[in-house]
Amino acid sequence: MVQFTICRRLPVFLFFVFHLLSPKVGAQDNDRLSPAFHSERRNCLRKLMPAGSVAVIFSNPVRNRSNSVDYQYSQNPGFYYLTGHIEPDAALFVFSEEVKLDGQLTDEILLIEGANSASSTWSGSAFTPETAKDSLRIKSVLHNRDCKRAAGLLCGKTIWITWPDQPRKDAYSEIGLVQLVAQIKSGLKTCNSEPDTQSLSTALAQLREVKQPEELLLMKKAINLTVSGFQKMIKAIEPGMKEYQAQAILEFEARMGGSEYQGYPSIAGTGKNACVLHYSFNRSKLESGELLLADMGAEYHGYTADITRTLPVNGKFTAPQLILYELVLKAQNAGIAQCVPGKPFLAAHIAARKVIAEGLLDLGIIGSEADVMNYFMHGTSHYLGLDVHDPGTQGELKSGTVMTVEPGIYIRKGAPCDPKWWNTGIRIEDDILVTDEGPVNLSGSLVRDPAAIEKMMSKDIL
Ligand code: GLY
Ligand code: MN
Repeated sequence: MVQFTICRRLPVFLFFVFHLLSPKVGAQDNDRLSPAFHSERRNCLRKLMPAGSVAVIFSNPVRNRSNSVDYQYSQNPGFYYLTGHIEPDAALFVFSEEVKLDGQLTDEILLIEGANSASSTWSGSAFTPETAKDSLRIKSVLHNRDCKRAAGLLCGKTIWITWPDQPRKDAYSEIGLVQLVAQIKSGLKTCNSEPDTQSLSTALAQLREVKQPEELLLMKKAINLTVSGFQKMIKAIEPGMKEYQAQAILEFEARMGGSEYQGYPSIAGTGKNACVLHYSFNRSKLESGELLLADMGAEYHGYTADITRTLPVNGKFTAPQLILYELVLKAQNAGIAQCVPGKPFLAAHIAARKVIAEGLLDLGIIGSEADVMNYFMHGTSHYLGLDVHDPGTQGELKSGTVMTVEPGIYIRKGAPCDPKWWNTGIRIEDDILVTDEGPVNLSGSLVRDPAAIEKMMSKDIL
């Protein structure tokens, strides 16, 4: 047991003093995106905006789970990208040029509710406009009660806006999202402005498609935590275990490494459940001879991983499983090879689908290539970032884009093919960084090769 000396205690003491004085939720982490990052993102947005315009974006609403319990709050990723603010009941205005607010020139205004007695007591919100301005380094921060003044600045401008989805009054807000939306709508009515509700989403998709180095660090962390979790899980699974126990091993490992949440509900589907694309009930027992499809991604400071591995529950693929697994792997490799700058976004999908179509035709599982849709019924790729299905242009691939490559084959019981293929669901998914030097598989350290999976699952080499 470690004995604490005075000089060991002092930093701990100072840490707690700092912690108590610190006004910012999340200030415990020193590897969050920096205020300079968010400021630069706002500058990049301005470059896409026409002269005389303003972009308006809101925080996400708090979503109610039931009665007095809300879901864990999750910020609107676009709003987070531009501000770094992780609290609800806020709005951001980004102006293409400076405007006058209270006699001062500014080109950005953040409206926040800030601490009130209920939020300080119950949710720990501690921001005031002054501390928010300091921490987030946004030029102008106003209290929501001053929204009318800010809304007056929208008149006569081209307005790009994304309205929040179903704003509702949350338990701790006094002047919250509902009032912000109402006041901005009424301001727009007064000056007869018809806002553009498309262009801001389009511009943000264009920006978020290409990751900055600071973002890539967080994505690599999320991916590495997920890989560590998979490694623990792969070594531990065996017949008799429950799907949720496999899930728990991965999630525990990721949480222990600092992940705050999963980026989406974990999928742990065994046997026929592996054929349900977004299965997340995860209550069944793992049976010998079946496959477990595990699709999971830890989130770290907002950025999520998204990795899938398909594993033989008893540690050995059956002959039919191995044939289909090898086919999905071949399709995935063909897809990954297409992840280079200048290729169309759909190139990975087209390449992977072709491999699977030809393979299923050869195996007699389908009678024509078009029937591949019956067994591979989803896209191969999506962008990855703050959202698991991150926005992007779907245009030519660019260096700095992170995308998944995740082909699959799903054959349900009763499908019109030899019953030896039934109840087989296989997907292999990795997170690929597009670079000028070629595709970089950020999750490539996790076993994919069937022999390597069997070796890792072999109980003799624990
Ligand atoms: N990981 C789930 C999905 O990509 O839809
Ligand atoms: Mn995915």
